[in-house]
Amino acid sequence: MIGAGVEGGAGSRRLADGTTMPLLGLGVYLVPDGEETENAVRWALEAGYRHVDTAQAYGNEASVGRALREGDVRREEVFVTTKFNPRLEDPVAELERSLERLGLDAVDLYIVHWPQGGPTWAWPGMERARERGLARAIGVSNFSAEELEVVIAAGEFKPAVNQVKFNPFYFRRGLHDACERHGVALEAWGSLTQGNEIGDSALAAVAERAGRTPAQVLLRWAVQRGVPVIPKSRRRERIAENAQIFDFALSEGEMSALDGLDRTEGTDVALENPWWTTTGRARGLAGRLVRSLRG
Ligand SMILES: NC(=O)c1ccc[n+]([C@@H]2O[C@H](COP(=O)([O-])OP(=O)(O)OC[C@H]3O[C@@H](n4cnc5c(N)ncnc54)[C@H](OP(=O)(O)O)[C@@H]3O)[C@@H](O)[C@H]2O)c1
Repeated sequence: MIGAGVEGGAGSRRLADGTTMPLLGLGVYLVPDGEETENAVRWALEAGYRHVDTAQAYGNEASVGRALREGDVRREEVFVTTKFNPRLEDPVAELERSLERLGLDAVDLYIVHWPQGGPTWAWPGMERARERGLARAIGVSNFSAEELEVVIAAGEFKPAVNQVKFNPFYFRRGLHDACERHGVALEAWGSLTQGNEIGDSALAAVAERAGRTPAQVLLRWAVQRGVPVIPKSRRRERIAENAQIFDFALSEGEMSALDGLDRTEGTDVALENPWWTTTGRARGLAGRLVRSLRG
C-alpha cells in the first residue's frame, strides 16, 4: 500500500467508477506518428508498462494502435487513454474516429483535453460515449478545482480523473486536495517537468541520497502519494529507467524536501497559462520573453 486507494506491487489506482489504472504509463505527446511512436510504445511494453496516454491532438493514435497489436501483450492488459480535442464538436463522433485509428473497440479512459468553451459543454457527449461502451471511464484534464466542481454538479457521472501538470515544482496541493475530496484521481502530466528542472540542485541532492536518477525521484514522488504518471520519452534507455520506480521509497524527509520546491503556493488552479484563452496566451508569451532575456 503506497497511498490512498493504491494497490499492487507495480502500482495501480482504483478509480471511482471501479476501473483500475496502472500508476505508470507512457505519454506520447510530441512523439511523431510512425516508427518513433511505434518504437516508444513497443519498448515501454517490453519494460513492463501497461498504460499508454495519447490524444486526438497528438496525431499518433494510429501508431499507438499498431504497436499495441504487434506485441505479445494482450489488449485487455493495457490501459489506453485518449483525449477529446475540445476544438472539435462531438465527443462521440471523435471517439469513434479515434477508435478506428487505434484499431480498438473501446478505450479505457477518454478525457476532455482542456476546458475550452467552459467546463460543461462537452460532458454530456463524454457521458454518451461511456454509455455506448466506447470508453470504460471518462475524465477531464487541465480543470481547476472550481471547474471540476461545476462539471461534477452538472453531470450524471463525475470525472474519474483530472489530468494536470503536477510535479514538485508545480505541486498544486489545493487542486490535489480538491480532487481527493471529490474522489477524482489526479493524474500527472509534466511529471518530469517536461525536462526543464531535471538538473535542479535540490532534486539532485535527493537523488544522490536515494541512489536514483532525478527522473526516478520525480516519478516516485508522485506515485508514492497515489498519483499516476505518464512520463514521455522517445529513448529506449530512458523508458526503461522511468519504469524503475516501484523498488524503492522516499523517506518522509525526502518527500517534504521535494514538496518544498513548489512554485505554485499550493494553488487549486490547473494551469498558469491557459493557452486557449487570450490572457493565457499573453501570459505565456510574456513568460517566454522574460526567460529569453534572462538567457
Ligand atoms: N493533458 C495535457 O494537457 C497534457 C499536456 C502535456 C503532456 N501530456 C501528457 O503527459 C505526457 C508526459 O509528457 P510531458 O510533456 O508532460 O513531459 P514529461 O514527461 O514531464 O517530460 C518529458 C521530457 O523529459 C525527457 N526525459 C524523459 N525521461 C527522462 C529521463 N529519464 N531523464 C532525463 N530526461 C528525460 C524527455 O526527453 P526524451 O524524449 O528525449 O527522452 C522529454 O524532453 C505526454 O506525453 C502526454 O501524454 C498531457
